[in-house]
Amino acid sequence: MAKTPPGTFSEKLRVEEALTFDDVLLKPKESSVEPDEAATRTRVSTNVELEVPVLSAAMDTVTESDLAIAMARHGGLGVLHRNMTVEETASEVERVKRADELIIRDVVTASPDQTVQEVDETMDREGVSGAPVVDDDGTVLGIISGTDIRPYLEVSDRDEVSEAMTSEVITASEEVTPREALELMYEHKIERVPIVDDDGALTGLMTMQGILQRREYDKAARADDGSLRVGVAVGPFEDDRATAADEAGADVVFIDCAHAHNRDVVDSARSISGRVDADVVVGNIGTREAAEALVDFADGLKVGIGPGSICTTRVVSGAGMPQISAVANVADVAAEHGVPVIADGGIRYSGDAIKAIAAGADAVMLGSYFAGTDEAPGRVITMNGKKYKQYRGMGSVGAMQSGGGDRYLKEESDEEFVPEGVEAATPYKGSLASELHQLVGGMQSGMGYVGAPSIPEFKERSEFVRVSSAGRQESHPHDVVITDEAPNYKPDG
Ligand code: XMP
Repeated sequence: MAKTPPGTFSEKLRVEEALTFDDVLLKPKESSVEPDEAATRTRVSTNVELEVPVLSAAMDTVTESDLAIAMARHGGLGVLHRNMTVEETASEVERVKRADELIIRDVVTASPDQTVQEVDETMDREGVSGAPVVDDDGTVLGIISGTDIRPYLEVSDRDEVSEAMTSEVITASEEVTPREALELMYEHKIERVPIVDDDGALTGLMTMQGILQRREYDKAARADDGSLRVGVAVGPFEDDRATAADEAGADVVFIDCAHAHNRDVVDSARSISGRVDADVVVGNIGTREAAEALVDFADGLKVGIGPGSICTTRVVSGAGMPQISAVANVADVAAEHGVPVIADGGIRYSGDAIKAIAAGADAVMLGSYFAGTDEAPGRVITMNGKKYKQYRGMGSVGAMQSGGGDRYLKEESDEEFVPEGVEAATPYKGSLASELHQLVGGMQSGMGYVGAPSIPEFKERSEFVRVSSAGRQESHPHDVVITDEAPNYKPDG
């Protein structure tokens, strides 16, 4: 056996130091930036910009279409998890893409000879309150809504739709603008306008609710066609899911692997990125070397080896990289190539999120922070009188059993998984909108303390100071008993 040269092992112990969130604070600087005015616009991948630099994690207790819709409406990006079939992924993407469309394309219609009862049941099932009545050629004959079929109107359930519908129907052409459509609706006191082609055949439907909703979400993340942006996680070798997500209209495909600096993963990611129209973000990584292996083709790099709240990767494998150093390592390389960086995992407070950006990230991804919101999958459970929602690692036994093992480069046929995550519960938090508001508001405060009016200027101007354990203790409330919960502070994160 070859002898190890003396000194080699002990030299290994002269190690570089790696830091994480609690090791540093932002140095306050002279400022003329009011927090509310700090612009949080950023780029998460080559072609995708967001008003809010926040993504929700691709985890089966965090992001499905409901949360992705809410994230995009409020300016961030939801990344759909992949513990579902490829067909389900495509339909989840389509659901987000269709959520805010101005002209609804798959319109619920009625035919004139159906009974009122049949239409009533269809509208109930589809969750709509009105339907254009069309003949076999699709020509619009009238419109029927709840108000046409209320019992006091002496319409019987067995009457034909043609007898109950309103036949003076106001239609518009494909060219109608939202403003013109709204004016028509106000003028005629109606809530929906069928869109028709030159022959009077139905091509879509505009609703007042749809138009007003668009105005309400003024920061929404939208593609050029106005649809909400959505990201999709795909396994390191899942070409079929990547293609299906791309064809369904996903804006960003995330190659989702616990250790993306693996040669096979790099090769597969490169090949997927050459085949899809969507941007391709690759992760997770935590070193300069990994960034160098990916930066020539990736549209974005995602950073995080074991910082997550439910992760046990570092204790199980002994490998990892404290998150502030991981982000800085990757950002050094990414910045030279103009590739955006996403800091994924370990963020408990808004202060952590803005520290990640100071370390070089362009955006942050959070799991536990959003898992307790109404829009996340799963129901509210009560334990000891307190409300919680389930939150589990994608490397936990439960998540791996339902198909997520390849994130950890493990065979799904393994009978006994070696998990790298735990199954847990996280406090119930109410709506995503208010959680996101607290997160972004806190990040803007950080920008104010540093005197930076925009994310790029903040990345340049911010500096860190190192914090001792006494300093860390001083940072949190101390020597008091907290009597009222703050919306943005929990003693344990
Ligand atoms: P937070 O701290 O926001 O972290 O809850 C979310 C991120 O954690 C990663 N993740 C895992 N990492 N084992 C791990 O080592 C797991 O089981 C696991 N599940 C998720 C993932 O990057 C996510 O965005």
